[in-house]
Amino acid sequence: MVSRVIPVETFDLVIFGATGDLAHRKILPGLYRRFLAGQIPAESRTIGAARSVITSEDFRTTIDEPIAEFVPKSRQDPAAIAQFLAQLHYIPIDAKGEGGWPALRDLVRPNVVKAFYFSVAPSLFGDLAERLHQHGIADATCRIVVEKPFGRDLASAHALNQSLAAHFSEQQIYRIDHYLGKETVQNLMAVRFANILFEPIWKAQYIDHVQITVGETVGVEGRGAYYDTSGAMRDMVQNHMMQLLCLIAMEPPYHFDPNAVRDEKLKVIRALDPVEPKDIVRGQYLAGGGQGSYIEHSENPDSRTESYIAMKVGISNWRWKGTPFYLRTGKRLRSRASEIAITFKAPPHSIFDNPGGIHENVLVIRLQPNEGMTLTVMIKEPGPGGMRLTEVPLDMSFADALGGDLADVPDAYERLIMDVIRGNQTLFMRGDEVEAAWAWTDPIINGWEARGDKPRGYQPGSNGPDDALMLMHRDGRRWREIKE
Ligand code: BG6
Repeated sequence: MVSRVIPVETFDLVIFGATGDLAHRKILPGLYRRFLAGQIPAESRTIGAARSVITSEDFRTTIDEPIAEFVPKSRQDPAAIAQFLAQLHYIPIDAKGEGGWPALRDLVRPNVVKAFYFSVAPSLFGDLAERLHQHGIADATCRIVVEKPFGRDLASAHALNQSLAAHFSEQQIYRIDHYLGKETVQNLMAVRFANILFEPIWKAQYIDHVQITVGETVGVEGRGAYYDTSGAMRDMVQNHMMQLLCLIAMEPPYHFDPNAVRDEKLKVIRALDPVEPKDIVRGQYLAGGGQGSYIEHSENPDSRTESYIAMKVGISNWRWKGTPFYLRTGKRLRSRASEIAITFKAPPHSIFDNPGGIHENVLVIRLQPNEGMTLTVMIKEPGPGGMRLTEVPLDMSFADALGGDLADVPDAYERLIMDVIRGNQTLFMRGDEVEAAWAWTDPIINGWEARGDKPRGYQPGSNGPDDALMLMHRDGRRWREIKE
C-alpha cells in the first residue's frame, strides 16, 4: 500500500553541479522515479548547469547510465526514460563569471515554480546566489536548495547563511538533511504524535536511556580528502544524528507546520548539555579484510580525524533531565544498520519472582535496512509450569504491514525535491537551527583539537573501539549489537 501520488505544479528546476556525483546518484534518478510515478507534469523541465561545455543532447546521454545503475530494474521503463530525458536541458555555466547566465535567464520561464539546486561546493553558494540575482533570474517566489556540509563551524555556517540571506528570504531557502527525507524518520513523528500510547511515558520519568546508532560498512575510500577535513562529528553527528535526536526529544509542535516543527527542534538543540571529554570516544578504522586503513584512505599519515564516534549526551529540560542519549556512528563497522532504541525503565515493583528477572521494554525504530518497529514486552511463558516470564518482540516490518512492496516508496531525495516544488519546508533545516547545532558542536571539536586527542584504532567489521563499550558499562548499560 503506497499512498496516492498527487502531481506537483509545473516547474523549472535548475541543478548547479549537474554533472557531479550527487546529481548522478540521487537527484536525477530520483526525479526519474517521480516522473514515472506520475508526480511530475509533462511540461516541467530540469536544467543541468555545470562547467563542462556540453550540449543538452550530450547531457541526456550521460544520464542514461545513472538511471540504469541507481533505479531498480523493475522501474526502468524505456518509454518513460525517453520522455523523462526529453525534459532535461543543459547550459554550461561559469559560477564566478558571466558565461551562461544570459542563456539561463532566457530558458527559465517566469510563470512556473522555479527552484535552483546548489549541488556544488559551499564556497560557491554566495557566487550563485549573487549571479541569479544580478541576472534577474531569481524572483521572490523561487526556491534555492543547498546541500550539506553547511559550514564546518558556527562562523562559517553563519557566513553562508548571510551570503544567502543577502538575496533570498528564509522562506526561499531549503537546507537539505537527507535523513529527514527517510520514510522511517518521518514515522518517528507519526508514532509519537498520532498515537496516545507513547507520549504520556515519553519522558525521563519512564525512559531509562536512548541509543541512536548509524552503522556503516563502507570506508572513506574515494572521498578521503573531503572526509579527513570533516570526520564523523561534522559529517554525521552535527546534522543527521542531531536531527534524529531532535525528533525523539522535541515537544509536540502545535501543528505539523514548518516553523512549528523547527521551533521545537531548535529548543532541543539549545537545551543540549556540553559534552565532557570522558563522555566521548573517537575511533579510526585499521586495515583488515583486504581493505586499507583509514590512514591509507585519507592519504594523511598523521590524520587525527575520527571515522567513528560514540558519545553520551544530556538534555537539560524538564522532560529529559536525567535520561542520557547515547549516540554512535562509524564507518567500516560490522553491519550497515541504523536504529533508534528507547529503553524504558523497569516497573517500580515486581510482583513476580521470575528467575530471569523482568526486562525493560525497548522500543526499536529501525531506520535501515528492514524499516520497521519492534517493542519488546514481558509475557508469561506458555505451559503449566507456574508463572515464568519471558521477553518477546512485537515486531512490525513496514514492508509486511504495508503490503510488501517498498520499491515505490520515494527515497529521501525524491521526497525532499518534491517538497521543494510544493513549497513545504517542514523537512528542511532552518538557518538558526543549523547555527545552534554548530554552536553545540564547536566546543566539543575545539576541545579535542586543543588537547591533541588521537582516535583509537578499531578493527574493521567490529562494533568500533573497545573504549566505546566502557562508555555504557560504567553506567550499568550496554550497547545493542549492530546488526542488520
Ligand atoms: C552522508 C555522509 O551525508 O550520509 C556520508 O556524508 C554517509 O558519510 C551518508 O555515508 C549516510 O547516508 P545513508 O542514507 O546511506 O545512511
